Amino acid sequence: MQKMPEPYRIKMVESIQLIPRAERERKLAEAHYNVFALRAEDVFIDLLTDSGTGAMSDAQWAAIMTGDESYAGSRSYYRLEDACRETFGHQYFAPTHQGRGAENVLFPLLIKPGQVVLGNMHFDTTKAHIELKGGEAVNCIVPEAFDTANCSPFKGNMDIACLERSIEENGVEKVAFVLLTITCNSAGGQPVSMANIKAVREVADRYHLPLFFDAARFAENAYFIKKREPGYENRSIPQIVREMFAYVDGFTMSAKKDGLVNIGGLIGIKDDEVLYSKVRANVVPIEGFPTYGGLAGRDLEALARGLREVVEEPYLESRIGQVAYLGEKMLAAGIPIQQPVGGHAVFVDAGKFLSHLHNNEFPGQALTIELYREAGVRGVEVGSFLLGRDPRTGEQLVSPLELLRLTIPRRTYTFNHMDFVADALIRIYQRRHEVRGVKVVEESQVLRHFTAKLALL
Ligand SMILES: Cc1ncc(COP(=O)(O)O)c(C=O)c1O
Repeated sequence: MQKMPEPYRIKMVESIQLIPRAERERKLAEAHYNVFALRAEDVFIDLLTDSGTGAMSDAQWAAIMTGDESYAGSRSYYRLEDACRETFGHQYFAPTHQGRGAENVLFPLLIKPGQVVLGNMHFDTTKAHIELKGGEAVNCIVPEAFDTANCSPFKGNMDIACLERSIEENGVEKVAFVLLTITCNSAGGQPVSMANIKAVREVADRYHLPLFFDAARFAENAYFIKKREPGYENRSIPQIVREMFAYVDGFTMSAKKDGLVNIGGLIGIKDDEVLYSKVRANVVPIEGFPTYGGLAGRDLEALARGLREVVEEPYLESRIGQVAYLGEKMLAAGIPIQQPVGGHAVFVDAGKFLSHLHNNEFPGQALTIELYREAGVRGVEVGSFLLGRDPRTGEQLVSPLELLRLTIPRRTYTFNHMDFVADALIRIYQRRHEVRGVKVVEESQVLRHFTAKLALL
């Protein structure tokens, strides 16, 4: 079938340059082999994250000019509230400066020290905020999530038996709430099915537990439901989104993904007025007055518009199609990747790709470094380097998967860029036995991957 081009044309461009190989080598050494320490201007194609790195539409830029910068009661806030109510069907909303701001405001209202939060697979800042509130983040994702060659359509699903077992083992009073991450970033952008959302709701109801979404990629999740779940093929994306959110009590969201903005976050509360009044009170000292929540009025306008654009099917078709295209090119060359390709990124199975390296030689990081050296492309490791050490024993933990994540910013790169990335990885694959592992030489205790220094083995 003929490949459809991007459903937009380019009105403004930003130059990028590929610096020579010898310079890339030098920049890597200066960055102590940690790609977070590279300057963005030394990166040709930046696939570090899809968070806040996408392109806004002309309509969003136009909306920015209409931002009402009033401290309280801004017109832009009410426009965002309308867009949120229409998109999610919940009654109450609070903007925040980004996703972790939403977690920081909501979680202390839900978690008592010593309680657990049961999720499919918690994102790292989410886990950090649960722990900062004295809680423990427990993952109950389906086991197929850890088998990169397993092509199940909904590898982000919660393992219902594991969820029930965890509630019974901990005792229901020790469970703060249940959190479903849609799509599940840490599992490779894998979606959660509507049937699974319903099943989790039933368990939560049986134990009288609140259920929340970590909704950063809600529209991509809805698209996968439409394409993969029988019974939803003729439903519109907005209808599917409304149904998904009807099953939860509320959500936190990093709007830097499916809000199609460079900064922003949201808390949504379905109908619990008491919880919402506590959220409003908590937002003030942490994020700002509830009608701006750490954002400028213009940011609220861009987000209100972004929420309407993200559920348009031609956009989602192109977005998910571009990620799938990159994945399929790699699969055709025999490169092992997380299958099926997820919503926002291609996750290369670096453990298999560099099977001569042990976990403690960090194959995901070794491949990340090699890709920058080869082509100036910046990806990111998701594996044992990211996982870090056991806080009690100080021992290096072993990740079930050693991955290189190639995260695609929204509406930013073209198919030509995808070809360039795939070709570079294919060249590395052909000489993969030459790639050396790395060791950590300096690290912090919390979230070390952002700042650690490494050396080649
Ligand atoms: C699933 C998920 N939750 C929460 C966050 C945190 O959001 P933010 O980076 O906006 O603070 C992210 C960011 O990548 C995410 O992917």
